[in-house]
Parts: sequence; C-alpha cells; structure tokens
Amino acid sequence: MIEVRDPQLRDFMDSWHKPVDDDLASLRRSEESEGVPLILTETESMLRLLLDMKKPRRILELGTAHGYSALLFAKCCPDALITTIDRNPGMTDFAEANFRRFSEGSRIDFRKGDALDVLSALADETAASGEDLRYDLVFIDAGKSHYREFFDKCEALCADDAFVVCDNILLKGWLVECEGKEAKRHRTSIKYMRQFLEYIESRDDLDVTLLSGGDGLAVIRFRK
Ligand SMILES: C[S@@+](CC[C@H](N)C(=O)[O-])C[C@H]1O[C@@H](n2cnc3c(N)ncnc32)[C@H](O)[C@@H]1O
Repeated sequence: MIEVRDPQLRDFMDSWHKPVDDDLASLRRSEESEGVPLILTETESMLRLLLDMKKPRRILELGTAHGYSALLFAKCCPDALITTIDRNPGMTDFAEANFRRFSEGSRIDFRKGDALDVLSALADETAASGEDLRYDLVFIDAGKSHYREFFDKCEALCADDAFVVCDNILLKGWLVECEGKEAKRHRTSIKYMRQFLEYIESRDDLDVTLLSGGDGLAVIRFRK
C-alpha cells in the first residue's frame, strides 16, 4: 500500500508543529493518546494559514469528534462564530465538556445530529431569519462517502467568496492504491471520494486546489 507520507518525513514535519497555545497542545496530546480522531498537525498548519489569510466571520464544520478543530477555529479567529456538527453520542459528551472547559467554547454552536439533517435545518433557519448567516469557511471532516451530498448542502449556505476545505481526500493512500484487503474494505469511500473529486474538478465556477499534506485536503473556492 502507498504511504501518503513516509514515516520519517512525517516525524520531521511533526517536530516543527507549534501549537496555538497550551490548551490545544494538551488537548492534542490527550486525544492522540486515547485514539480520538482529530486533524493531523500538517492539516492544522494549512488550516491556520487559510484562517489567517481569510479571517472568516462564520465557520461551519462537519465532524466535531471531541472538538479539537472547532476549538482551533475559535482560538485562531477570536471574532468568529463557529457551528459544528456531529451525530455520534460517543463523541458529543466529550465535545460539550471541552467547549465548556475553554472560554472560546462560548462562540461554538454545537449541533447534534446527522450532518445532512442539520444542514437542512440551518438552511431553514437562514431563510426564516432574514439576516446574512452565510458561512465564509466550511470544513468537511465527516463521513467520507458523503462529501458530494455534504458539499451540495453546504454550498447553499456559503458566502459568494467562501472556501470549503475537505479533509482526508487521499483516504490514507487508498484513493490511489486501491488493491489489497484493507482497500477493499474501503471501496465505497474510495468510489464516492473519486466521484466527488471529479465533480468539483469539472465545475468551471470553482477554484480547486488539492494538497497532499496530512491525509490530503481539497481547498475549494467559489467564483460566484
Ligand atoms: C475525523 S472525526 C472529526 C475530527 C475533528 N474535526 C477534529 O479534528 O477534532 C469525524 C467525525 O465525524 C462524525 N460524523 C461522521 N459522519 C457524520 C454525519 N453524517 N453526520 C454527523 N457527524 C458525522 C463522526 O462521528 C466523527 O466524530
């Protein structure tokens, strides 16, 4: 199987990781030691660069887990409001506890439920409010077979010049090297991720950048 990153190269890159602060450093350590899924350090670096350049006011995240990336967004963007969605009860209690633990958690609107249902509810709320509640940045880090459906629903909630960042597009290398037992177990995700990437590449009104850092990111910008 293909290694998305040579382990030596990955260790080297990790050694350059500078946490935003002590809170996030200790949260990353404890989540990693407990095997909780969270963004890789390279992914965090790329997101921080984008947050710094874009300075989003409203951020939407699909896939909260224990809340590490949502807290990263809140800490890096002190004026932003963050909406984050997760459906897994095994994750949501921990995320809520972490959002209570840090002051930045007060700017995080945590929605529990399936992302597709919550996105429909957010669209209804936006229509009913009459205010501009559109998002400047969306981070998709949830079910890997559903990126196309997530993207379509998020698009309707986005500002004209929003960015949508999709994590794990390389699926640990299986997207490219899809032979073998492990890859076969992930064939549905591989098929749908390929279709999603082909779809975004086919649209003339999107600027798409694929990055191989971390587990691969697609950075999509609307050209509305
Ligand atoms: C990789 S983890 C998210 C990690 C998090 N972004 C971080 O870096 O701290 C993916 C999360 O997506 C959630 N998830 C998967 N499919 C979902 C869906 N359809 N709706 C809501 N949440 C979903 C899972 O429960 C899991 O907690």
